[in-house]
Amino acid sequence: MGLLDKHRSYSDRYRAIRDAGADPFNVRFEAVLSPTEGVVDGRRTILLGTNNYLGLTFDESCVEASSAAIRAHGTGTTGSRIANGSFGGHLDLEAAIARFYGRRSAMTFTTGYQANLGILSTMVGRGDHLLLDADSHASLYDGSRLGHAEVIRFRHNDPEDLRKRLHRLKGQPGNRLIVTEGIYSMLGDTAPLKEIADVKREMGAYLLVDEAHSLGVLGEKGRGLAEAQGVEADVDVIVGTFSKSLGAIGGFCVSDMEDFDVMRVVCRPYMFTASLPPSVVASTLQALHRIESDPGLRHRLTANSQRLYDGLKDLGFEIGPHCSPIIAVTIPDQPRAMAVWKALLDNGVYLNLALPPATPDARPLLRLSVSAAHTDDQLDQVIAAFAQVGEAFGLLGRPPRQRASA
Ligand SMILES: Cc1ncc(COP(=O)(O)O)c(C=O)c1O
Repeated sequence: MGLLDKHRSYSDRYRAIRDAGADPFNVRFEAVLSPTEGVVDGRRTILLGTNNYLGLTFDESCVEASSAAIRAHGTGTTGSRIANGSFGGHLDLEAAIARFYGRRSAMTFTTGYQANLGILSTMVGRGDHLLLDADSHASLYDGSRLGHAEVIRFRHNDPEDLRKRLHRLKGQPGNRLIVTEGIYSMLGDTAPLKEIADVKREMGAYLLVDEAHSLGVLGEKGRGLAEAQGVEADVDVIVGTFSKSLGAIGGFCVSDMEDFDVMRVVCRPYMFTASLPPSVVASTLQALHRIESDPGLRHRLTANSQRLYDGLKDLGFEIGPHCSPIIAVTIPDQPRAMAVWKALLDNGVYLNLALPPATPDARPLLRLSVSAAHTDDQLDQVIAAFAQVGEAFGLLGRPPRQRASA
């Protein structure tokens, strides 16, 4: 038996997908022309699968900051911060993130994935209890598994189920840490944070929110869902990433906890990997400044999300419950999901195909992520492509407006 034979069922499925004429998990962009356009197979393609929520990857000031840093400090740090030391930029970025969130401490990581691995595996330990929303991102699951706390899943976005599970722990020693996301990465729905914060207070737990998809997107100042729902004071720990609205790569954690700095010497995914390169630190700092100084970016993103959400809903597609920059279109079966994904790409629209078991309710999804940089014309082209492909594949239910008036 070969080393990889244990993955046979996955390789068989992957082969079947490729044999059907496309590889949605390995798309090659010959060029990326802007935050919203690339070239695939020689054709200009609208990008709707890139999490580039504010379109800052090509922002002139971010690109300038990044180029200047690379010239001044070189291409990489070539080591971890505990072994090789920090650049001034690392400290400046941490100070800026702490200030942005109004928190005492911030810590950066080389990716958002590592931030979750590090924080979840270290903040709770043996004898503690980690209560994880069932639809949590893989990085939150992996961080939970890496640590030694007891992991208890609660039903997605269900504060009552959370309360019940915390009740069952009554009398048991150990801390309780509740883990949720702001905007959920697959369906684009948001957590009922107010109700979850009520449960947290009532049951004496801690609360961590992963604002990966909501930083720069929600809240008057762009701090995310906790800000938008007015519960920041109840959130003990916020984690997030630089790879979405901030247009780069990296992760962070902020907190008011005393002695938070101990994490720098106990958190292995922080300690044993090379730190962020100067170019990324510089563009991220500048992107954070753009979020703080230009709320118009957020407003355009909200308007764009609404335009696409309404357009697809009116066509009769089955889409996620909340309007957000992540729009998930459910497709009834895998063969059609793959064919529709390919037909849209052939029509100049790139988006993400998500297949079970990676989807929340075991049905295939087409996942679109809207950008503030999309033009009305691009979004209308996308809606027109969906109309054409939806008709061809028999996916158009009766639009809600017709239903209401029927
Ligand atoms: C909710 C959530 N947390 C964390 C991450 C990991 O972030 P990164 O890709 O920056 O490592 C993701 C990535 O998609 C995510 O969706």
